[in-house]
Amino acid sequence: AIDISKLRDQTGYVTLDIGYKNTGATQSAITFLDGELGILKYRGYPIEQLAAKSSFIEVAYLLIYGELPTEEQIKKFNFDLSHHTLVHEDMKKFFDGFPSKSHPMGQLSSLVSSLSAFYPESLKPNQTAEELNLSIIKVLAKMPTIVSWIYKKSLGHPYIYPQNKYDYVTNFLNMTFGQRTEVVEIDPVVVSAMNTLLILHADHEQNCSTSTVRIVGSSASNIYASVSAGISALWGPLHGGANQEVIEMLQKIQEDGGDTDKWIAKAKDKNDPFRLMGFGHRVYKNFDPRAKIIKKACDDILEKLGIDDEVLEIAKKLEEVALKDPYFIERKLYPNVDFYSGIIYRALGFPTDMFTVLFALGRLPGWIAQWKEMKVHKEPIGRPRQIYTGATNRDYVDIQDR
Ligand code: ACO
Repeated sequence: AIDISKLRDQTGYVTLDIGYKNTGATQSAITFLDGELGILKYRGYPIEQLAAKSSFIEVAYLLIYGELPTEEQIKKFNFDLSHHTLVHEDMKKFFDGFPSKSHPMGQLSSLVSSLSAFYPESLKPNQTAEELNLSIIKVLAKMPTIVSWIYKKSLGHPYIYPQNKYDYVTNFLNMTFGQRTEVVEIDPVVVSAMNTLLILHADHEQNCSTSTVRIVGSSASNIYASVSAGISALWGPLHGGANQEVIEMLQKIQEDGGDTDKWIAKAKDKNDPFRLMGFGHRVYKNFDPRAKIIKKACDDILEKLGIDDEVLEIAKKLEEVALKDPYFIERKLYPNVDFYSGIIYRALGFPTDMFTVLFALGRLPGWIAQWKEMKVHKEPIGRPRQIYTGATNRDYVDIQDR
């Protein structure tokens, strides 16, 4: 490994790599992925094993602290998390202030950033390890409450407070789908599906939002501001926003009569800006291992919940046609994780505009782990260079002479 503290500015040459297609910005021991072979591992553990055997909160612990927890460690982690799930009562004023139809991602990024106002100790650039850990626990614990309350606000329903008796995922589902006056049973099938989805999204090395979290954090910004920046980066339809776009696209195809060939032709037409949402990936050029797991999970969940979703049939047909088409084969375009996640979220009862927020909830442990690693490594401030292409020398011209 390179000793980062010994690196000095190398002036003279600048490498131009627009979109960072081949440029490594850091060294990381968190997530390994091989885009050619379709391998994804968190801290060395294959995603397939974690999705089958672990829980989201155990995976969060693994990503943030580097090891699978012992029974005692996970008990303490759950205890700490459950004691920080409440948000400050004054935060309700923010929820009240948003128009009820405003996009949940805009609300989420503002609300997470506002946590720094309630926990100003996070502003100290040189927090002790204990203070830093408390900030980590707080953001992880409060995010499900914030996400659920954004949803309740969109419905105009009263907020449901977190309850210590529930585990992380059940607590989230209870705050989202629970009622104040009646006891709502949270279906274990739903809890298990939610755990799987969150695990699959928990980290993905230096993607757009994670790199954003690291670069914002590299200026010694607090964790809430850094995570909020990651949420903004995730919002875009080319990144996390794709899961919402996929369902909207499938619905459009359904309303249009379900002619998948027509839509595949549109996606291939270079004069048409339409892209097949949920297809293609910057790194996976063979298959996305998360998509494989999610496709199976999708079939299982719809069957267990007894849901017959025509949109799923359209998705399968699209995949089948695209995978045989030379355009997609030559460009190595395969379904990514977002192609099927939206269908599961829909089956669980989430409205479309909440999908990207759920992605953010899943990605949070990854952002935290990467932010922490960047701090522990004492990485220098992120500051890309450029190749200047503008005018060279010009003299100022007074306005009446232009
Ligand atoms: N539909 C049709 N054509 C596509 C698609 C698509 N979904 N994706 C890429 N292509 C084509 C491009 O037009 C380009 O064709 P060309 O070589 O003839 O110009 C070629 O494939 C390469 O595409 P790039 O955009 O250069 O690939 P890049 O690695 O920059 O982009 C990305 C990857 C953004 C994911 C892209 O495939 C895309 O826009 N997909 C749809 C959006 C999506 O699903 N995003 C989610 C990504 S996964 C995640 O964030 C969790």
